[in-house]
Amino acid sequence: MKGIILHGGHGTRLRPLTHTGPKQLIPVANKPISQYVLEDMRDSGVTDIAIVVGDICPQKVKNHYGDGTKFGVKITYVHQHQPKGIAHAIGECREFVGEDLFVVYLGDNLLKGGIKKFAKSFEESNLEGMVLLSKIKNPQRFGVAKFDKKGNLAQLIEKPKTPPSNYALTGIYFFRPAIFEMIGRLKPSRRGELEITEAIQLLLEQRRSVCHKFVGGWWKDTGTYEDILDANRLVLEELKLDVKGKVEDKSSIRGKVCVEEGAQIKRGAKIRPPVVIGRNSIIGGGASIGPYTSVGDDTTVRRGEIENSIIMEHCLIDVNEKIIDSIVGAHSEITSGKAGKPKKRTFIVGEKSNIML
Ligand code: DAU
Repeated sequence: MKGIILHGGHGTRLRPLTHTGPKQLIPVANKPISQYVLEDMRDSGVTDIAIVVGDICPQKVKNHYGDGTKFGVKITYVHQHQPKGIAHAIGECREFVGEDLFVVYLGDNLLKGGIKKFAKSFEESNLEGMVLLSKIKNPQRFGVAKFDKKGNLAQLIEKPKTPPSNYALTGIYFFRPAIFEMIGRLKPSRRGELEITEAIQLLLEQRRSVCHKFVGGWWKDTGTYEDILDANRLVLEELKLDVKGKVEDKSSIRGKVCVEEGAQIKRGAKIRPPVVIGRNSIIGGGASIGPYTSVGDDTTVRRGEIENSIIMEHCLIDVNEKIIDSIVGAHSEITSGKAGKPKKRTFIVGEKSNIML
């Protein structure tokens, strides 16, 4: 089975972070979201992978993944010149796929438990398509499944105002090459895109064999800031104590905490799990980190409280404030001079920002 990771798209909802990179490279618990996707494919035996890149800094994607050797896979890059839809992006991989069966994984989706058992079941079948569904409360933002009386998949509707069920399409699809014929017949939807839901709908209408499976654990589409912070929480929740760096006061570290190589936690620093501290980062004695916080590599937090946030690499935080529910882009500085009662602040700042409070 081959794999396709979608790494293009508009990224508009995540500006300013997506001014300097694709959303799929935003780190969750210090690892790019799309790397979880790639590792899930690899761990499921899918090692021949196409990454579809768009126009938002494709070089950053290539720099991170290279030819895939570092990750134990072989990567082919496919360039999608305009974000004309998920089905369009898949269509661009026609040559890469050849006559194989393949899995498509949206590069901004995370699935606990992974795809291994689904990949196996698709491989053992003669199905032309298989979709993974997740039960959620408000499926209006997603593709939604409608079932017939026997519980078979009857229809897929993209972002319906009145959802016919609570089962959302996750961004994970299994296909045989018949899907390309359906993609070839698509016309742009109301949002101007070639929709994969419509291509699967065409398979269903032609009575080709399409089935659905339900995912068990959590599934997260990371389309908004809130989603990214949620995903960060969900992944951090699964950490195990792992201290490779230097901790001056060992009693300050307990529970789900990961301190990477070369990191230093100074005496007096408070670490409230779950927390990950990246390589060579320094947490000063006047800092309090967590819960639910990821600090990237080579970042210094001299003073300040940081809670439920992602601070990316090469940042400096030196404040007498509480930073909460925030995402701070790489190479940014947030500093404040005056001592006083800490206030609560929330930031969504892109790379290389400089904020003086
Ligand atoms: O996350 C699951 C949902 O993903 C499904 O429930 C929907 O049925 C499906 O249409 C899709 O909806 P989104 O609105 O979330 O799609 P989005 O535009 O965010 O794109 C999903 C991923 O595909 C994202 O990683 C960017 C990438 N992409 C998107 C487009 C439109 C591309 O690589 N090229 C594109 O042209």
